[in-house]
Amino acid sequence: MGWLFLKVLLVGVSLSGFLYPFVDFYTSGKTRGQKPNFVIILADDMGWGDLGANWAGRKFTPNLDKMASEGMRFVDFHAAASTCSPSRASLLTGRLGLRNGVTHNFAVTSVGGLPLNETTLAEVLQQAGYVTGMIGKWHLGHHSSYHPNFRGFDYYFGIPYSHDMGCTDTPGYNHPPCPACPQSAGPPRNLERDCYTDVALPLYENLSIVEQPVNLNDLAQKYADKATQFIQHASTSGRPFLLYVALAHMHVPLSMTQRPGAPRGQRLYEENLQEMDSLVGQIKDKVDCTAKENTFLWFTGDNGPWAQKCELAGSVGPFVGSWQTRQGGSPAKQTTWEGGHRVPALAYWPGRVPVNVTSTALLSVLDIFPTVVALAQASLPHDRHFDGVDVSEVLFGQSQAGHRVLFHPNSGAAGEFGALQTVRLEHYKAFYVTGGAKACDGSTGPEQHHEPPLIFSLEDDTAEGLPLERGGAEYQAVLPKVRKVLADILQDIANDNVSRVDYTQDPSVTPCCNPLQTACRCHTM
Ligand SMILES: *[C@@H]1O[C@H](CO)[C@@H](O)[C@H](O)[C@H]1NC(C)=O
Ligand SMILES: *[C@@H]1O[C@H](CO)[C@@H](O)[C@H](O)[C@H]1NC(C)=O
Ligand SMILES: *[C@@H]1O[C@H](CO)[C@@H](O)[C@H](O)[C@H]1NC(C)=O
Ligand SMILES: *[C@@H]1O[C@H](CO)[C@@H](O)[C@H](O)[C@H]1NC(C)=O
Repeated sequence: MGWLFLKVLLVGVSLSGFLYPFVDFYTSGKTRGQKPNFVIILADDMGWGDLGANWAGRKFTPNLDKMASEGMRFVDFHAAASTCSPSRASLLTGRLGLRNGVTHNFAVTSVGGLPLNETTLAEVLQQAGYVTGMIGKWHLGHHSSYHPNFRGFDYYFGIPYSHDMGCTDTPGYNHPPCPACPQSAGPPRNLERDCYTDVALPLYENLSIVEQPVNLNDLAQKYADKATQFIQHASTSGRPFLLYVALAHMHVPLSMTQRPGAPRGQRLYEENLQEMDSLVGQIKDKVDCTAKENTFLWFTGDNGPWAQKCELAGSVGPFVGSWQTRQGGSPAKQTTWEGGHRVPALAYWPGRVPVNVTSTALLSVLDIFPTVVALAQASLPHDRHFDGVDVSEVLFGQSQAGHRVLFHPNSGAAGEFGALQTVRLEHYKAFYVTGGAKACDGSTGPEQHHEPPLIFSLEDDTAEGLPLERGGAEYQAVLPKVRKVLADILQDIANDNVSRVDYTQDPSVTPCCNPLQTACRCHTM
């Protein structure tokens, strides 16, 4: 009786606009009992230091910074791998690559993809009655039943892999620069390494190629339009929705867009960062005007900056991996240094996620799956283990407790793909293997194995510059704990249902609009 009275009182007060919005959520008839919508935006190759709210020197992300002040910003949030396909596979399965099988990238000619007996987040939500859409870079296999439309997404619009994995007529900026697609058949050109030139980059809508080659100059606007249309349709359908937007930004090639009013001489990277920020702003505005109180928006990145792209790569902020840079090579994308996997992360849900809060909880992209499934009142598949956990209490400001332990899989720079040889334990980080990715100067750090491991304390050494002394008391206290958690997870994985990926390649599976046209162009020039 007393509670009911209070509730009536609260409704009265909230209607007059005085009450903290948190209470409004529980009392508003409009949202009560409805399952929440989810929008997950994943940037590509964005640096921790590219987010203005993270790194004072950067000021190219006004929309994201505003989202940070209206929600929660995570400063110790990690991608599940330091390269594209494994990071995305872990986001959509809540499992590390050693379990879901995806330990390295798929190619244009890959026959397989994310194994079919892995259950994606979209499949779980689809079963729970959600309308599901994906826009952007998939990179989990595009051939046959590996296409996103068969992995739980009702709607798909995007390039099925990285937008440097095919030529275009609008090549944009890459390092080395890549030529435009050939217009007509001719003798093979003597092309620089790292450029794809035989097949033009495809753009799909559902199962059809709607453009090949893609015009990169209006891709950002197309993604914004399709995302806002999806939100519009879904929010009038009467069903809750999941929208996963995997941006092409900040991966190379960067586009040629010249925004009106951009300061002269501004770096290309920074202009593209602003373009990405404005794309995210358009999606958030759409959420705000259609489904604000009942939509959870999560923004993060797939891995750190691709340093070998020099001035076309982002900023790692303070996570400069100086132990590695002294050996040579880059400590960013493809490595297990912080610059490789510590990514910007924001959570926005008016009335649920507290405003303008910075969280230092240790969280991971792996947590998105279990958290979203819990909030959707669905259940996790029972016949496998998960590496992420439901962190909704952290998101709602009711707890500060993130992970005690995270494992960072090898992602190309050193060691075997997917192997767990870097361990985060509280504020310590232990490396059994180190190596640098290709740096701007062309150097790659040597692969080095460390037994016993190098251990850094991130609390006072964010740069990962000086390992703890092996003979010291602190090292001796941490080492047995590292050994124990590593042995435990390896044992757990050995007893889990793990999937195998078919990484074979066959040129005939290349997406091709018209095999009779040069570079598979959709139309004759
Ligand atoms: C894509 O598929 C969805 C779900 O089947 C459908 O509603 C939508 O109309 C399709 N869009 C296009 C452009 O084919
Ligand atoms: C967010 O918090 C910071 C520091 O706590 C404060 O300076 C700033 O004014 C706040 N912003 C908003 C929009 O409340
Ligand atoms: C693996 O899958 C089988 C068949 O679905 C199931 O019986 C078993 O419990 C699963 N194992 C684990 C560790 O979940
Ligand atoms: C997937 O299938 C393979 C064999 O086809 C099996 O070994 C594995 O346990 C399955 N994984 C899951 C998660 O069910």
